[in-house]
Amino acid sequence: MKNRKFLMAANWKMNLSLDDARELLIAVKRTETNFNKVDVLIAPPFTALSLAYELLAETDILIAGQNMHWEEGGAFTGEISPLMLKEAGCTHVILGHSERRSLFYESSAIVNKKFGAAINAELTPIVCIGENLDEREEGKTFDIIKTQLNKSLDTICNQGKSHKKLILAYEPVWAIGTGKTATPAQAQEVHSFIRNWIMENIGNDAGQDIQILYGGSVKPDNVKELMTQPDIDGALIGGASLNADAFISIVHFYEN
Ligand code: PGA
Repeated sequence: MKNRKFLMAANWKMNLSLDDARELLIAVKRTETNFNKVDVLIAPPFTALSLAYELLAETDILIAGQNMHWEEGGAFTGEISPLMLKEAGCTHVILGHSERRSLFYESSAIVNKKFGAAINAELTPIVCIGENLDEREEGKTFDIIKTQLNKSLDTICNQGKSHKKLILAYEPVWAIGTGKTATPAQAQEVHSFIRNWIMENIGNDAGQDIQILYGGSVKPDNVKELMTQPDIDGALIGGASLNADAFISIVHFYEN
């Protein structure tokens, strides 16, 4: 029986004006959420972090950065540091999203550097992994996932860092923003593989504790079935998180 809490994480990506962000944050804040069952997290663009911090103060809604640099500060034009994210009110940071990996050439080695920096700064990293369509069709899904885990989490495996502050997100690249969701069985198969990897490489307690989110076209009408799978502990939601009704309905998935 799993005792992990669900986490519904909104990844706004590079979307929403400040006015639209305000409206959406107020709508999410107003809804009554059972935080004993589900944690809620919002990852706005950097320019909306302070607005989110201000509007969500005194709520249990968590705030995350969508990316960060691994250094604490210095001559890194265009980057943001772990400490800056913390100062802006973040408790979490998304790392290695497939858009970072494919569009901005972030390797798993870079993700690992960022992962170590997040742990050092006491920010909880949400590390994303996932195969693309060719890799799935060539039957390489598990090899890709294993390699991404080994390389992106090298710090935890080889340097014995604490596992308590780690969340993983399985996001099949072919399901992101495409309307194609992995079936609950396809997702569960990979989540279970990831959980076994955690047990073997980090430890049994970690295997029980670490939340593994699913991401890729999660919508109000497919979320419940995904969440009934034993190794799926929440979702990383892109498109549907930009619409208040859709996101709130996903957060309340257990009522429908
Ligand atoms: P999507 O995005 O829900 O729009 O597919 C998910 C993600 O990229 O995190």
